[in-house]
Amino acid sequence: MNPVEIAEPMHSRWSPSVFDDRHELTDEEVTRLLEAAQWAPSSGNRQPWRYVVAPRGSAAHRVLVPHLRRGNAGWVPRASVVFLSVVVLGTDGDELKDLVIPVHDVGQASAHLTLQAHAMGLRAHQFGGFDHDGVAAGLGLPDGTRIVAGIAVGVRGNPDDVPERDAERDHRVRERRPLAETAYDDQWGRPWPGLRPSGPTTAPAERA
Ligand SMILES: Cc1cc2nc3c(=O)[nH]c(=O)nc-3n(C[C@H](O)[C@H](O)[C@H](O)COP(=O)(O)O)c2cc1C
Repeated sequence: MNPVEIAEPMHSRWSPSVFDDRHELTDEEVTRLLEAAQWAPSSGNRQPWRYVVAPRGSAAHRVLVPHLRRGNAGWVPRASVVFLSVVVLGTDGDELKDLVIPVHDVGQASAHLTLQAHAMGLRAHQFGGFDHDGVAAGLGLPDGTRIVAGIAVGVRGNPDDVPERDAERDHRVRERRPLAETAYDDQWGRPWPGLRPSGPTTAPAERA
């Protein structure tokens, strides 16, 4: 294996902003995505994730859309389904337990869902830019839960159908900082010395 290449579908995953607003997911496809999330590891196998499934035009979708931040209001509603990830917090007596591990676990389940979507030839774009409290209230979510993020899933649409601003986002160069700024040894900030030359830190949006 070429040392600079990571495995699929991580290699070719990216977050498109132009979805086909006529495409629909089948219930079977939605179920497979949820099943991928379900098989994520979690601390103590507590599985603190829940998902509100909001196909375009559904009641849950109608709750979400007015709460989207401006930058997301154009592209998110076009996706076939939005999954809203929700963390369920355990309690220690009356105190809610620390958020760190449960939120980590929900993020990991959502990564599974996102990668499963890509492996199925779908595209997924996670987003956090919406009024979380407004959506939680609109959906009547119970105490002890918090919405974490949205995952918009669908297939790519025609860039000519969307505002230029959204179409342009799909042509941006994707960037990452070098691994030497991410992986340290025992001295914080000092690159782990085993690092080898790795892949480029920029990539075009869609990779084959
Ligand atoms: C928790 C989370 C929140 C995000 N929020 C937004 C958002 O509100 N709007 C948006 O367009 N993209 C959002 N993104 C997508 C990121 O901007 C995107 O993943 C990042 O730029 C890297 O691009 P790539 O996914 O194509 O590699 C979010 C991603 C995550 C994981």
